[in-house]
Amino acid sequence: MEKAALPVPPGSIIGIVGGGQLGRMAAMAAARLGYRCHIFTPDTDSPAAHVAMTKTVASYDDMHALRAFAAQIDVATFEFENIPIESLRLVAEQIPVRPSWKILKVAQDRVREKTFFNTIGLKTAPWRRVFDKASLAQAVAEVGRPAILKTARFGYDGKGQILIDDSTPLEDAWHCIDSEVGVVEAFVDFTRELSVIVARGVDGAWTAFDPAENHHTNSVLQMSQVPARIHSRMAVSAVEAGRHAAEVLDVVGILAVEMFVTREGNLLMNEMAPRPHNSGHWTLDACVTDQFEQFIRAVCGLPLGSPARYCDAEMLNLLGEEDVARWQNILNNPFARLHLYGKNDARPGRKMGHVTHLKPRTDIDQC
Ligand SMILES: Nc1ncnc2c1ncn2[C@@H]1O[C@H](COP(=O)(O)OP(=O)(O)O)[C@@H](O)[C@H]1O
Ligand SMILES: [Mg+2]
Repeated sequence: MEKAALPVPPGSIIGIVGGGQLGRMAAMAAARLGYRCHIFTPDTDSPAAHVAMTKTVASYDDMHALRAFAAQIDVATFEFENIPIESLRLVAEQIPVRPSWKILKVAQDRVREKTFFNTIGLKTAPWRRVFDKASLAQAVAEVGRPAILKTARFGYDGKGQILIDDSTPLEDAWHCIDSEVGVVEAFVDFTRELSVIVARGVDGAWTAFDPAENHHTNSVLQMSQVPARIHSRMAVSAVEAGRHAAEVLDVVGILAVEMFVTREGNLLMNEMAPRPHNSGHWTLDACVTDQFEQFIRAVCGLPLGSPARYCDAEMLNLLGEEDVARWQNILNNPFARLHLYGKNDARPGRKMGHVTHLKPRTDIDQC
């Protein structure tokens, strides 16, 4: 825990490394609280910069630009996972970076991440580190088929992953992932996929949103719904797992943990992200304090708000040109809340926005 950290007061400048939609929604929450944001991004036209006070356009390893950025802001955070650790360390020499680069270092790498979960007593699917064809063969023999081979780094939305079923030649699989290090993990025959989003303040206080039930299509998040269709005991265990991970890591900010519920009713951790998460976008419309505001509050050392949920919600990602073309239809439904990220280039499958459908709360008696 940081000692006697003073709040970064409204009016200060928050530096956000990364210029995507997460930075955009964080900057909007920051603006509501009277902060100004400075976005550091390599992109000349980034969703976050559209709604921020200013931006630096430079590559993530431009040490000169990073030093100048740090000199102009009061506190820094990040919204993108694949930032070189060295860059954040450099910024941290000048001003507080929350959460710490040490947490990003764990979350960036599936080997470190899974080792971390297991070390603190949280279960994962059986997994092995692989680094060549021989270790891959050994790993698959040990965890069994079907299994999934994933690159240790830089994977997202299912990229850098390959399913190894009974007929997959291992030689081909290894060539496919094009990485020096990977993990092989047992394929989980899950009944539900969940995520828990924990916010944790400078003082160690924490809150968590209700677990979301997530549905992926081709490994890309398609829909998140709350409440998740799980027993309340399972919801408590899921939140407890997220809280435990956030405490051990000493997160100041947001930690999102993705998990599987097995047929036997066990929870297995999948991965984590020390930043706001796509599966928490529903909180913008359904909660007293949304994940972006909690993020800003935590990063600035302010008290956290209530994560209480007013209503049930279903968040659908809008991917590519086709989904975004439905914007008028979406607006015709008065209980749908449309969020567009202002991206120019609607490449197929690109996250262009999301819509949250709000419904009366069904589990009110459990409050
Ligand atoms: N071991 C597994 N068993 C079954 N499904 C998996 C497994 N690992 C990943 N998946 C599916 O693929 C999705 C993406 O994988 P994930 O590990 O979260 O990588 P990323 O989101 O970084 O691309 C998961 O949300 C899940 O639907
Ligand atoms: Mg994932």
